[in-house]
Amino acid sequence: MFIENIRLKNFRNHADSYLECGDKANIILGDNGEGKTNLLEAVSYISLTKSFYASNDSVIVNIGETIFQIEANMVSDNGIKTKIHIGYDLTTGEKVYSINNRRIEKFSSVIGKFPIVFLSPENSNITFGGPAERRKFLDLVLSQSNQTYFEDLSEYRKVVRHRNKILNDAKFHKNDPIALLEPWNEQLIRFGSRIMVRRRNFVNEFQEYIFSAYKKLVDLREVPSMEYEPSFKTGNSEKDEMVFENFKTEIDRKYKEELRLGSTLVGPHRDEISFKINGLELRKFASQGQHKTFFVALKIGEFFYLKERCRENPILLLDDVFSELDDNRAQQMLLLIENLNQTFITSTNFDIFDKVLSFGEKNKKVIVRNGKIAIS
Ligand SMILES: Nc1ncnc2c1ncn2[C@@H]1O[C@H](COP(=O)(O)OP(=O)(O)O)[C@@H](O)[C@H]1O
Ligand SMILES: [Mg+2]
Repeated sequence: MFIENIRLKNFRNHADSYLECGDKANIILGDNGEGKTNLLEAVSYISLTKSFYASNDSVIVNIGETIFQIEANMVSDNGIKTKIHIGYDLTTGEKVYSINNRRIEKFSSVIGKFPIVFLSPENSNITFGGPAERRKFLDLVLSQSNQTYFEDLSEYRKVVRHRNKILNDAKFHKNDPIALLEPWNEQLIRFGSRIMVRRRNFVNEFQEYIFSAYKKLVDLREVPSMEYEPSFKTGNSEKDEMVFENFKTEIDRKYKEELRLGSTLVGPHRDEISFKINGLELRKFASQGQHKTFFVALKIGEFFYLKERCRENPILLLDDVFSELDDNRAQQMLLLIENLNQTFITSTNFDIFDKVLSFGEKNKKVIVRNGKIAIS
């Protein structure tokens, strides 16, 4: 999959920007705050129907305007062209997503059609940060590769919110909400165990993807691995029903504590996924370099995983990744990704790319200044 061209209208600081894309590297240069990341954000709308940064569509609309629009022409790996149109109206709060002029009713059906892999220095928190960062990583890969997962996750989140509200109210009023909780418990267990089974299987499958990406980056004396650590014991059995059964038991066991704290303590929203090198936990024992390598291996693994599951080469978005690397590492990284698929790379460093890439039809270089794109 690649983007042939993309137009942004009143999208952040882009009043009207048009980019004819190269099908390999697209280098987006410019100083800080000029509108480079905003371009990548527009690509996330195409893929995920929303921003990977903002939780709210309204902040995207160019200040003083009421509607933002994105138009893009996509080409699939086997050459099929698709026209995308996305529009959001601030006054009504309505968002429209159309493919080939047909409006999509269920946004979840878009996710996974146009897969992306996104890298930025902030999401290197996947290896440094708390469990929420790693759950986010899993959720994004799984949502793109499995539509049911995405739908289950949305339902599950709603259930946790409802349940937390009931528990919190009960804590405040000092009453026993057991009858009120009953239907929510059932749903928590139903969606929660489906998510957990999917995550457990994913961690098993993904192992080899990290492994082969990692060995491309460093020598194999370092063996990376990943382990699924759910919030409660799911039993030694690999049987999916065990997750369901143990979930029930755990809800009962934690009931008093949940009441005391006024929130849901059991379920996949409290999962940990630990990363290891040679059996030692990355978070506690790894060097900066190992963190970086593991992170890049995760992302390359994600690329190949999505490529297989979505049956489409994902588009790579690299936001400001190169400013952090020395010249040598930057060149190595460029060579590594150059052959994967279409890539959008933002950078404030104008010099590093000319040494490695030749620009023309396949590789493009543009400069973004004050929300406008100029071909360099
Ligand atoms: N809704 C908006 N309307 C107009 N400008 C915006 C909006 N949201 C963000 N901006 C502007 O976009 C710029 C940041 O763009 P960004 O793509 O993050 O920059 P960078 O080139 O550093 O990646 C800032 O100047 C910010 O003021
Ligand atoms: Mg930026």
